[in-house]
Amino acid sequence: MKQNKIAILASGNGSNAEAIMAWAIESMKAEVVCVLSDKKKAFVIERAKIKNVPTIIIPYEKNEGRASHEKKMIESLHHFQPDWIVLAGFMRLLSPLFLGAFENRVINIHPSLLPLFPGKDAYGDAFRAKVKESGCTVHYVDEGIDTGPIIAQTKFQLIEGESLEDFKRRGLEIENQFYPQVLEKILQAKK
Ligand code: GRF
Repeated sequence: MKQNKIAILASGNGSNAEAIMAWAIESMKAEVVCVLSDKKKAFVIERAKIKNVPTIIIPYEKNEGRASHEKKMIESLHHFQPDWIVLAGFMRLLSPLFLGAFENRVINIHPSLLPLFPGKDAYGDAFRAKVKESGCTVHYVDEGIDTGPIIAQTKFQLIEGESLEDFKRRGLEIENQFYPQVLEKILQAKK
């Protein structure tokens, strides 16, 4: 059975989401069935619309609690019957409630060579630590902060004297190439 339906969860800019949508459309190896965001104004929504991918916006309502928010996300996602939940800059931690609804099918990309520099500002943390090389990691998601089993990593060197902005820009470009490649391999392995 083909298992190639992807739902993307993203909170912000969406360059990884766009790269995955473009890869799916061009290669026809996957179908991005929807893009879900918890942020109404996230740029990823515009990117999805341009690619004719359905969008879902489920903001976290003040004080509603994680379970209530996750239940809404699960319910909406189930309509699209995704085989995979692909996080691309989704800024919320997921609980066992959500992860249990999509067991072993939730994937994330993190901009460091995990287990180094987990957390929100991995590029900044690696840069300030003056590392010689960094990279990005595609991993399964568990309830921890960037702690799930590692699927694949790619490395790149820091350039002497480059700014944090340049380092981030280069890193993001690498992420945008790497994420679809890894997803393609995961889908291939599950055929
Ligand atoms: C990326 O650096 C990703 O690794 C991290 O959040 C950032 C999202 O960027 N989880 P974008 O929204 O895909 O452009």
